[in-house]
Amino acid sequence: MVQLRDLFESSSFWARGRSCADLRRMLAGSQAAVTAWNGPQLVGFGRATSDGIYRAVLWDVVVTQEQQGLGLGRRVVEALLEAPALSTSERVYLMTTNSSGFYERLGFRSVESQRLMQLDNSNGSGSTK
Ligand SMILES: CC(C)(COP(=O)(O)OP(=O)(O)OC[C@H]1O[C@@H](n2cnc3c(N)ncnc32)[C@H](O)[C@@H]1OP(=O)(O)O)[C@@H](O)C(=O)NCCC(=O)NCCS
Repeated sequence: MVQLRDLFESSSFWARGRSCADLRRMLAGSQAAVTAWNGPQLVGFGRATSDGIYRAVLWDVVVTQEQQGLGLGRRVVEALLEAPALSTSERVYLMTTNSSGFYERLGFRSVESQRLMQLDNSNGSGSTK
C-alpha cells in the first residue's frame, strides 16, 4: 500500500494525500485493479468500478514518469477492459483532464452531448486524511 501511495504522490495530481488506510478501502470498493511492476517497484496502476452489466468507470490510471511512453499505460487500460467486471459492461466511462489523446488511441471517444457534474461531499473525502 505504501508503494501505491508513493506512486500517487509522485505521478498524479488528483490522488495526492491519500492515506494507506483509505487506499485499502478504495481498493475494496473497486471491481478491478491492475498493477505494473519493474522488478520490485510499482510503476503503473489503474482501477475500475462496475455494475458488471451496464456501466463501468476507469479511475486513477497512472504510470511513473520514468516509465511513460513505453506502452505500460496501454497495457494497464487493456487489462482493466479485459477484467470480468468490465468485459461484460455495456459502456465504459472515464474522466481525464489532460490525457484524452491517450484514451482516444485506446478506442475511447469524447462525449460532447453530456456534461460532467459533481457534488463534493465533506464527509466523503477519506476518514484518515
Ligand atoms: C496518461 C498515461 C497513463 C499514459 O501512460 P503511458 O505508459 O505513458 O502511455 P503508453 O506508452 O501506453 O501510450 C499508448 C499510446 O498513447 C499515446 N499517448 C500517451 N500519452 C498521451 C497523451 N497524453 N496524449 C496523447 N497521446 C498519448 C502514446 O503515444 C501511445 O500511442 P501509440 O499507440 O500510437 O504508440 C501516463 O502518461 C501518466 O500516468 N500520466 C500522468 C498521470 C495522468 O495524467 N493519468 C491519466 C489520468 S486520467
